[in-house]
Amino acid sequence: MKFITTGVKGLDNILGGGYADNSLTLLTGGPGTGKSILGLQYLYEGLKRKENVMFISFEDDGDIITQQSKNFGWDFEKYIKTGQLKILTFYLPSTHVVHVIDTINKEVKSHKPKRIVLDSISVLSLFAEIAAGIELSQALNLKLDQVKLSEEVLTIGAVMGLLSKIKSYDNTSLIIAEIPEGKQALSRDSYTEFICDGVIKLKRDELTGKREMSVIKMRLGNHKLTPTKFTIEKDGIKI
Ligand SMILES: Nc1ncnc2c1ncn2[C@@H]1O[C@H](COP(=O)(O)OP(=O)(O)OP(=O)(O)O)[C@@H](O)[C@H]1O
Ligand SMILES: [Mg+2]
Repeated sequence: MKFITTGVKGLDNILGGGYADNSLTLLTGGPGTGKSILGLQYLYEGLKRKENVMFISFEDDGDIITQQSKNFGWDFEKYIKTGQLKILTFYLPSTHVVHVIDTINKEVKSHKPKRIVLDSISVLSLFAEIAAGIELSQALNLKLDQVKLSEEVLTIGAVMGLLSKIKSYDNTSLIIAEIPEGKQALSRDSYTEFICDGVIKLKRDELTGKREMSVIKMRLGNHKLTPTKFTIEKDGIKI
């Protein structure tokens, strides 16, 4: 089994070498737990290895992502110029979910990234819930009042459609999700965790401020079962 380094030595050790080659891993956790940083650190590791990588954002614009990376000493702008890094940003209130999936498919096909980070699937799920009924029924030439597709079915359709497209290409990638307040599931739609090959949950203790990550599942490898403490330092996440 081939493993792809996560960019964090301690995490590579926990996972038995890194993320399994060609796998899709869900990074989940509450706000400010370090999900985006762990994702950016993973992409930077690929950039240093001369790989093509892609960041797909539904939240921040490209400037904020390159700025956040710069704070850790990761010069993303340099790699945008060399063409190794492609950042796709979608603003969902004004973009159709079907267009998003279509664009991602085309861009992945042409850029051929070895690493993709999608931040975050929760926003897509939310908009899919709201918009999928209308959009997907149009795309499929269905009439909602005839077919009575439920919001849930359409959300799963949008999420699965996107994730299975990403999985169908040669890449080892991360999907970020937020855990909504008071919800037991690991993602907003509660299906992403089943579609992904692995799940890593990040947490911050409110009283002590200490951070920890737990590997909830890793279909393709042996991994540590108990939580591991980590810190965010000036050059990124350390275990
Ligand atoms: N240079 C730094 N040194 C130490 N800690 C930092 C530094 N920069 C950011 N942090 C910490 O990292 C947190 C943000 O991490 P990150 O953006 O990865 O969170 P997230 O899980 O993606 O959150 P959200 O769900 O809100 O997007 C900040 O709230 C802060 O606590
Ligand atoms: Mg984030």
